[in-house]
Amino acid sequence: MQSTNQLRQETQCVHSGTFRDEATRGLNTPIFTSSSFEYLDRAEVPYPRYFNTANQETVVAKLCALEHAEDGLVFGSGMAAMSTALMACLGPGDEVVMQDELYGGTHAFATEQFRKLNIGCHFTATSAAAICAAATPRTKLILLESPTNPLLSVLDLKQVADFAKARGILTVIDNTFATPIYQQPIRLGIDLVVHSGTKYLGGHSDLCCGAVLGAQPLIRQVRHMARFLGGSLNAQTCYLLERSLKTLKLRVDQQTRNAGQVAAFLQTQPRVAKVNYPGLPSHPGHGIAKSQMTGFGAMLSFELSSEAGDPKQFMRQLKLIKPALSLGHVETTICSPVATSHSKMTPEARARVGITDRLLRLSVGIEHVDDLVADLAQALR
Ligand SMILES: Cc1ncc(COP(=O)(O)O)c(C=O)c1O
Repeated sequence: MQSTNQLRQETQCVHSGTFRDEATRGLNTPIFTSSSFEYLDRAEVPYPRYFNTANQETVVAKLCALEHAEDGLVFGSGMAAMSTALMACLGPGDEVVMQDELYGGTHAFATEQFRKLNIGCHFTATSAAAICAAATPRTKLILLESPTNPLLSVLDLKQVADFAKARGILTVIDNTFATPIYQQPIRLGIDLVVHSGTKYLGGHSDLCCGAVLGAQPLIRQVRHMARFLGGSLNAQTCYLLERSLKTLKLRVDQQTRNAGQVAAFLQTQPRVAKVNYPGLPSHPGHGIAKSQMTGFGAMLSFELSSEAGDPKQFMRQLKLIKPALSLGHVETTICSPVATSHSKMTPEARARVGITDRLLRLSVGIEHVDDLVADLAQALR
């Protein structure tokens, strides 16, 4: 048997981590429902909040194989993963450099909570040069997202990782949009990878989870904080996530093929003022995306022109595509970031980044692309 690192992604999705159930010799990891375990004569006792049960560990092993990580933890949500990772790495007097263009929940968490904890925060543009220029001797951590939510800006991750390593600064990335199928930040030198597994990893609009992955010493540090904050994932959802990951590669490849065609279609439409998709040669981050990702992903955003009327009305005209929260699922969904993912950002911060009232974010699913294009075309008409 090859070592799991040599296996192709499709194979890792199916096989990595699976718990071998010797009692039944079933092919799937069983769902272990116990929350109480005998403790005599064992060095480490499993307990759900200790992040060390069999279901947690098997799904972490699959994620580690995909992200090229040594270790990891699965959480009850993406925000539990992100907030725990940040709390584990930061303390009073530390400073963080982070992009202005980040998932709105992470942005709001830093804006609201860091001040209380006496953690400084510098927001910058999505460019390696701007991020490196914002670092000071007190910078402890650089928080990254690429491609970003919702504008799909792309950042040179290796440049930031090299800069940070040379100065002993930790780097953390939200890799939700790219998925481990298209981007493995640890291989580019990033220290910690965070996911909202509610999105592509789960992929079927039926679970909420998060993950943090990285090298063993750092994950040990995150686990220490995680055991206090307690945001662990239950066995049933671990199983659902493990099952979903088996088709991750198939799903995101199909979604990405569809997204490329939908982006090309939208670009030809007079009622669409702008399309943000890293797969378009006209996108400012196209070159970097091509060099550090193996696919452009299935998220895009576009701005309706003023002739297209009210964006809410446009969404109501869609028959197949659902205006819905969240993203990365098998069904195509659309949302206005101003009203949803970025509603907690201040209007000034949104304006600085370029998130306007006419911007719509599309999460492209696995449906037939002709049906998606037809739905968008009739709504634009
Ligand atoms: C890029 C990104 N990161 C993190 C999160 C937070 O994840 P969760 O909703 O699972 O807590 C989201 C949610 O929309 C997201 O889009």
